[in-house]
Amino acid sequence: MCGIVGVLGKHQAAPILVDGLRRLEYRGYDSAGIATVNNGQLDRRRALGKLVNLNDHLVLHPLAGTSGIGHTRWATHGAATTANAHPHASGRIAVVHNGIIENFRELRVFLASHKIEPQTETDTETVAMLADWHLSQGLSPIEAAKETIARLEGAYALAFLFDGEDDLMIVARKGSPLAVGWGDGEMFVGSDALALASMTNEITYLEEGDLAIITRAGADFFDAGGCAVTRQRRTVAVDATSVDKAGHRHFMSKEIAEQPVVLANTIKFYLDGQKRRELISENLDLAAVDRVVMVACGTASLACFVAKYWFEQIAGLPVEVDIASEFRYREPPISGRTLTIFVSQSGETADTLAALRYCAGKASQVVAVVNVIESSIARESDVVLPIHAGPEIGVASTKAFTCQLAVLAVLALEAAKQRGACSDKVLQKLTSDLWRVPSLVADALGTDAAIQVVSAQLARHDDAIFLGRGAHYPLALEGALKLKEISYIHAEGYAAGELKHGPIALIDEQMPVVVLAPHDAMFEKTVSNMQEVMARGGKIIMISDAEGVSKAGDSTWHRIEMPQFESHWSPIVYSIPMQLLAYHTACEKGTDVDQPRNLAKSVTVE
Ligand code: M6R
Repeated sequence: MCGIVGVLGKHQAAPILVDGLRRLEYRGYDSAGIATVNNGQLDRRRALGKLVNLNDHLVLHPLAGTSGIGHTRWATHGAATTANAHPHASGRIAVVHNGIIENFRELRVFLASHKIEPQTETDTETVAMLADWHLSQGLSPIEAAKETIARLEGAYALAFLFDGEDDLMIVARKGSPLAVGWGDGEMFVGSDALALASMTNEITYLEEGDLAIITRAGADFFDAGGCAVTRQRRTVAVDATSVDKAGHRHFMSKEIAEQPVVLANTIKFYLDGQKRRELISENLDLAAVDRVVMVACGTASLACFVAKYWFEQIAGLPVEVDIASEFRYREPPISGRTLTIFVSQSGETADTLAALRYCAGKASQVVAVVNVIESSIARESDVVLPIHAGPEIGVASTKAFTCQLAVLAVLALEAAKQRGACSDKVLQKLTSDLWRVPSLVADALGTDAAIQVVSAQLARHDDAIFLGRGAHYPLALEGALKLKEISYIHAEGYAAGELKHGPIALIDEQMPVVVLAPHDAMFEKTVSNMQEVMARGGKIIMISDAEGVSKAGDSTWHRIEMPQFESHWSPIVYSIPMQLLAYHTACEKGTDVDQPRNLAKSVTVE
């Protein structure tokens, strides 16, 4: 992951770099650092932990200079320590890197043969060492950077800064995104356009394999073959205003609370006619496809998994859901009648992007369902369906998940319509149900106080199990993911009917079991599985509506009463108690809710 930023400017670089890094902290917060060229000399400052530590360090040890590079790290090679923090320096070179240099061990052997030894555990330092060795062989900075890059295997977005060169930065990308920003006599570099939002909205995205030589006068671009190329300069719509918590204790709680409004916007955007026609009906021939393949990671993949039930039940269209890290290497057959859908909040997830590239040119179309429309996944897709969730800052995905579900629901409805899979009456009912979802989500937020009581007790456990059936099964997986992600409680989700095939052995008097049991066609079956758990002493947290609770809530440990809503779209509403349970349990445990340990919001390495 990691975020990188760079500036060749007119003003002091350090505050500009720190501002850019603040916007990139969603990529990692293990350590942060900056390097500048000051009076012709490279110097750097680094600090362990979040950016605030670097900021404090810079107050005591300021760094002057108008040219600089910066980095916020999510550790891959080498522990989170100050020594392993970027920028890495060797002799006359400083470098920041996002990605993984896969052949760094071989390069170290080569460098060792020239008596050049690493000072850190990182793969990145090897890049600086190799470039400096090329300089020592008499190459110019530009040639040294080019020669170094030519020897790298793996994924990288790189920015090089050179001792004695106040007006030169060299950047390159392969597998990791990188944007060059244009100012007035100033130039910028960032992992994404958001990083540069307060500096410029004039952006050129590097393409795969590109290298750029940047001075204050502009940038020259070269493709993977070393040929000079022109890359489009675009004006992007990114908001420079920083997002605040609006009085909430955490971004996650704010983002949970926003869902009635953002869902209403998303549903209105797609159901009001014109946009659905322009973006979906006129772009996608859903009657001509014989299957849909949906690919994503983490929570986004669970949104796909819920949608699989909808596409199959409502539109009669077979759907395969795959996690991107497996899909990309499996070489699955994709025919011209396969519609592929890639779902991603950030639009930068490395595995999802690689899976998309595998499908481009093979599938009938490549559709992106994304929150960040200026993202790599959006830029490389045939059709982009924005989810309009607004900035999601908390690492745990909440409103992006429900907005992804809303867009996939509209797509399932469209597929049913185009394929004639449902009568007009059924389609109308499904559509009016979807319009009701935002207000039902608002009602579901009313479970907050009851869930706080449950969370206070759940927080004292080390494990938890989540059960669901049908489209609530993937939601059980999502509930478990959310809980472990921010509360660090070990949690697993299962299809309720699968429990007796193994996991039931885990049930004892200490095991909390969250059961998603709306009063629908699956209710009796789910309740039977719930009884099997209760018979073995398991502590049931039943999440159901008034009817379900009155029928089967007796003797459960806790009951959470949800609004009555028997509909295909019920998983959107039942997402709310999953999020609240994780949130309040994490608060009870005092974890870092918005930036949980070991995680990053955007996973840009595989
Ligand atoms: O940006 P993406 O939607 O592609 O991210 C995918 C996952 O990394 C993400 O959903 C992750 O699982 C969340 N932290 C879950 O809350």
